[in-house]
Amino acid sequence: MKQRIKQSIENLKQLSVNTLEELEQLRIQYLGKKGVLNDLFAQFKTVPNEEKREMGSLLNELKTAVQTKIETLRDALEAKIESKITIDDLTKPAYLETLGSRHPISLVRNEITNIFAQIGYTVEEGPEIEDDWHVFSALNFPPEHPARDMQDTFFIENREDGNNTVLRTHTSSVQVRTMEKQQPPIRIIAPGRVFRNEAISARAHCIFHQIEGLYIDKNVSFADLKQSLYYFAKEMFGAETQIRLRPSYFPFTEPSAEMDVSCNLCGGKGCNVCKGTGWLEIMGCGMVDPNVLEASGIDSTIYSGFAFGMGVERIAMLKYGVNDLRMYFENDVRFLNQFKTFI
Ligand code: PHE
Repeated sequence: MKQRIKQSIENLKQLSVNTLEELEQLRIQYLGKKGVLNDLFAQFKTVPNEEKREMGSLLNELKTAVQTKIETLRDALEAKIESKITIDDLTKPAYLETLGSRHPISLVRNEITNIFAQIGYTVEEGPEIEDDWHVFSALNFPPEHPARDMQDTFFIENREDGNNTVLRTHTSSVQVRTMEKQQPPIRIIAPGRVFRNEAISARAHCIFHQIEGLYIDKNVSFADLKQSLYYFAKEMFGAETQIRLRPSYFPFTEPSAEMDVSCNLCGGKGCNVCKGTGWLEIMGCGMVDPNVLEASGIDSTIYSGFAFGMGVERIAMLKYGVNDLRMYFENDVRFLNQFKTFI
């Protein structure tokens, strides 16, 4: 038996394999149930006591030798396989790392956020699933008022008492949430997703993004609104940009206006993007209605303020010349890859 063990240890040194299958055969031959080692351990039981010590340590030596041999062979084989994959042609060019890019909506949102951050606005967020109070009632939409139809709403829960749960139709809900928890001065912007029950087309989508702005303090006037938005328009669209405000209506602002910027593509001369008018409509705005301030716990005899809201998709369309809203949501890499350079 002693001889057999010594012989096995010797044999092991010579062994080599070419494939992982051969290696597995070798493992079974030595370490398998009916393998050499089990066989020797069985014989070990019959060894006379005085020889057990020596025989035992020889057997252990063999066992370790087998395990080490198998590991060494496996390492060598794996290294060989790896090197075959990578080093068979040293002149091959390296694999290209494909980098992702930021989504155009994120790019524009970040840009707008940064422009307002420079004049002291901080970012607020609110929930996408909202209650009637924050989306409508606190914003001066009376119950059953047709103004609620301005924005076709997705209802999550439609209740008799009117306290519905909805997907927010605009980020103006964040105005209310902010005023409820904070006294003026308030200077925030609120970017976020909004939802409207509209048929999807090149110009409308049921999900889109808005950025809301709210500024409340003592003595805030319409002139402040105009100047802040003029600053924004120049930062966003270029120093030459002009703005104009047209009277409009929102239940939560009085007076209300729509803001147009001079078309940055034709410089105001008229082209097909501005439909020959020289102007592009980019946001709604106005002085916060005193009813809205009071509903959120702010004293309208002391404070006044302005609010504005713009669609991010629309601004991104103007900025990048995108002519179909649906492209923002399809995540076609041929579209997305075009924004790589804008990171
Ligand atoms: N919430 C309005 C909309 O979704 C935009 C707006 C915001 C208008 C703030 C005025 C003031 O159309």
